[in-house]
Formats: sequence, structure tokens, C-alpha cells
Amino acid sequence: MSESLLHRCPVVPVVVIHDAAHALPLGEALLAGGITVAEITLRTAAGIGAIEALATALPELHVGAGSVLVAEHVDQVVDAGARFVVSPGLSVAVLARAQARGVAALPGVATSSELMTAVGLGVTEVKFFPAGLLGGPAAIRALAAPFTSMTFMPSGGVSADNMADYLAIPAVPAVSGSWMVDPGLLAEGRWDEVTARSAAAIRAARG
Ligand code: 3PG
Repeated sequence: MSESLLHRCPVVPVVVIHDAAHALPLGEALLAGGITVAEITLRTAAGIGAIEALATALPELHVGAGSVLVAEHVDQVVDAGARFVVSPGLSVAVLARAQARGVAALPGVATSSELMTAVGLGVTEVKFFPAGLLGGPAAIRALAAPFTSMTFMPSGGVSADNMADYLAIPAVPAVSGSWMVDPGLLAEGRWDEVTARSAAAIRAARG
């Protein structure tokens, strides 16, 4: 198994970017706030260009792709410079292509059956999505009990207000969410606010 993705940074921003020109100031704002990992989703046409811009200009930011749904996406994002891929669900094809391309993959799970599939595939780190709707921290505590070697990154409904409840669980080294990188902040170029929210999240995670 490759090195842990979830122990790199306790807070992983989920970025929906509409203009690849925003990538560089965004990456600099995240780094200024102490965030060293970013997930750029493929939900917009600008996603691939943003990954490429960040991977080229800011190697100190560990950039990956989110909303990776099919194996072809893995090729596209790795060619653009992504160092990991995140999916909302578990796809054997995505995991296999990620392994073949030498990048970490974080499949999404919502049930114990999906966790059993993940265990069978040798996966040790998963995204728990959509965390809030699935029962929040209590659901992860219940699932982590039988899956003793699994670590979880909750995503979906995680916020500045509840992130500490998730990180208090030993099986949760990192949380992810979009609150630090709200698309409105990007559209208005409010990079100082991105840095402020990032720094507050890192403080909360470490404190
Ligand atoms: C994800 O893709 O992980 C979620 O959409 C992020 O959810 P949030 O917007 O509730 O943080």
C-alpha cells in the first residue's frame, strides 16, 4: 500500500472551480493557511486545467482530483499532474487504473458492505460520503468498530462547527469539505478569507 494520504493534512478542501485562472491564487491562499492537500473536483470544465496549473506551479501543494467516476478520468487527471483521486463511491475500475498509474485512490463508502469490498481490495483509507446524512460521527464510530484497520475521511456536511467531532474519532485522521473554498469566495477573489478559513480549520484540527 502506498503512503497514507489521510495523514498528510487533517483538512482537505473540496474545490469546485469555475475558472482555471483562479487555481494559482487559490492554491497560494490554501498554503498560506497551512493546508497542504487539495481535491479539485471534475464537476466543472475548469477542473483539469486547475489541476495542471497547481501541479506545475505549486508542487508543495499535494493536488488530487475529486468526483472521479470512471477509469478514463484517472488517466486525464494523472496526465494533468494529480497525485491522488477521490470518488464518491467505490469503483473497482477506478481503483485498478489508479494503481496502474501509481497514484493513491480514495473510494467513497456509505455502508458496511462497501467497506467489506474495500477490505477485500486491500484498501485501507476511504471517504465516508455523505457523512452528515449517513449519521455523522456516530455512524463512523459504529462502522469503525468491526473494520479495525480502516481509516475514514468524512465528507459531505462537514463544517467548521462539527469537524472536531469527527476528528475526535481515532479512525478519522482527516476531514474534507467545501466550506473553506466556497465557490462564492473564488468568484469574488476573496483569497484572504480562504486563508482565514483554512488557518482556522487547521487550528481546530490541531488543537
Ligand atoms: C464532497 O464532494 O465531498 C462533498 O460534496 C463536499 O461536501 P460539502 O460541500 O458539504 O462540504
